[in-house]
Amino acid sequence: MSTLLELKDVKKHFPLKSDKILTREKPVLKAVDGISVAVQSGETLGLVGESGCGKSTAGRLALKLLEPTEGEIWFEGKNITSYKGESLRRLRKEMQIIFQDPYASLNPRKTIEQALSEPMKIFGMAKKERKQRVEYLLDVVGLSSYHKNRYPHEFSGGQRQRIGIARALALEPKLVICDEPVSALDVSIQAQVINLMEDLQEEFQLTYVFIAHDLSVVHHISDRVAVMYLGKIVEIGEAKELYSNPKHPYTQALLSAVPETNPQLEKERIILKGDLPSPANPPAGCKFHTRCPFAEEICRLQEPELKPVSEGGQLAACHFVKEVILQEQLS
Ligand SMILES: Nc1ncnc2c1ncn2[C@@H]1O[C@H](COP(=O)(O)OP(=O)(O)O)[C@@H](O)[C@H]1O
Ligand SMILES: [Mg+2]
Repeated sequence: MSTLLELKDVKKHFPLKSDKILTREKPVLKAVDGISVAVQSGETLGLVGESGCGKSTAGRLALKLLEPTEGEIWFEGKNITSYKGESLRRLRKEMQIIFQDPYASLNPRKTIEQALSEPMKIFGMAKKERKQRVEYLLDVVGLSSYHKNRYPHEFSGGQRQRIGIARALALEPKLVICDEPVSALDVSIQAQVINLMEDLQEEFQLTYVFIAHDLSVVHHISDRVAVMYLGKIVEIGEAKELYSNPKHPYTQALLSAVPETNPQLEKERIILKGDLPSPANPPAGCKFHTRCPFAEEICRLQEPELKPVSEGGQLAACHFVKEVILQEQLS
């Protein structure tokens, strides 16, 4: 497998307004505060964490919809961090996004055909070809060609998300960032849309970054899962391993909140103390220490690094998880 997308120590700090004009350090909100992750061609990386932890910002950075404050973005082996103009425009074809609420990004006065053919028009596709492709795309996402003359308000939430998916696929992208694509849908519809996305991934060899605030949503679609807390990845690993053997106390707490379908496996719910701190004023040391049931002195003082915690490649950032020294590192 080859690496399609890589974030290298990427940060996004948003400037905040300050009353003190003469302070030397400008106040910032650390939405993304140093994340490194490589996404392999054809895989689905789940990205989870509470609302406000920086998931959407990370997705937008990967797509070059936002400029990083620091760090690099690589795509297909090229450093695209400073791409602009024509090179960025060409790149746009390869990477697309699906939003939580496609309604917000669909023009209410344009028909579905107009909405879907817009990106094709921008990239110079002929009218006849566009028409054919719109019909093909509607079919591929489980809608009918007679839907093409309708307007966004005429569709249900699930159908609108299918349109959002069709639009993302219009230009045959390689990477699709799915930003909470099912969070606004009824549970019964969520499964249908996720199944559709899995089928499309196979058919078109897509690579997904699938964002959700809930670990249960990404369980089955993800090959690997990364857990974010206050702008950082605190744990990442193969989905199977991470769900069955979470190492970071935050992942353990998130998983303990997922309802168990098998009552015999009833687990103890870990209740996190306190509220999520603000990314404008994060705690020193381990950012999670204010809510961690196991925190000790060192956690308040020193930020833990993401380190290998299993032979299977799982990484976690916690002072109290034993680091696994991998054979390959020794040799
Ligand atoms: N354009 C922006 N300007 C200032 N702050 C922002 C901006 N976008 C996001 N934020 C802040 O960055 C943090 C992370 O936001 P976001 O990436 O949307 O989190 P998530 O998607 O995990 O809910 C939040 O505190 C949010 O308020
Ligand atoms: Mg978000």
